Amino acid sequence: MKTIKIAIDGPAAAGKSTIAKITAEKLGYTYIDTGAMYRALTHKALQMNIDINDEDSLEELLNSIEISLKPTDNTQLVFIDGSDVTEEIRSRDVTSSVSSVATHSKVRELMVAKQRVFAEGVGVVMDGRDIGTHVLPNAELKIFMTASVDERASRRHLENEKRGIVSSLDQLKNEISERDQADMKRKASPLKMAEDALLIDTTAMSIEDVAEKITKLAEERL
Ligand code: C5P
Repeated sequence: MKTIKIAIDGPAAAGKSTIAKITAEKLGYTYIDTGAMYRALTHKALQMNIDINDEDSLEELLNSIEISLKPTDNTQLVFIDGSDVTEEIRSRDVTSSVSSVATHSKVRELMVAKQRVFAEGVGVVMDGRDIGTHVLPNAELKIFMTASVDERASRRHLENEKRGIVSSLDQLKNEISERDQADMKRKASPLKMAEDALLIDTTAMSIEDVAEKITKLAEERL
């Protein structure tokens, strides 16, 4: 059976992971959340008191650990050397440091190599910031997913509320904007829309509608 590769990129909290997961389920594909990999490295670096601006130490750390992703029915579990860090990598400390870790080109080269191996020979939905432009430049379907900052912050706020986490909407808005700026301005494969990507603004769309739209686009390419 023919399978394709689907790249979903876009700014922070645009709903990429949620949509990518549902689309992968609909198509029976592997879902790969590349942000979770940068988050896992960041978590480990913070835990070991490694300076997030020290590129060589981060490269050494990444070479010494094994990051693995395991899909389950409703989520993707993330492991470092066999330990489940799925919850820890979503902490505020990790979120505020991850873009610094992701600026280093040596870190990115290693991550990209791993991501390409994960995607080899299978139908895949991969989400991140540089998938269409760099990781999978030959992906048959490339989506650039956006939503207004206000909408993204309020979705994250609701998500936090459901998980019992107290957050301030204004603070979330600032954090999201700061992360976008850092991701767009870095030298090594910055966040930008691939020339052959389709833009989907999800501000006024439901999760189900977006997943349906992407699944249809994927089916047209099979
Ligand atoms: O997708 P998520 O918001 O979890 O990503 C966390 C961070 O990881 C991003 O803000 C970005 O700095 C980095 N990232 C990246 N390239 C990717 C995926 C994520 O630089 N492909």
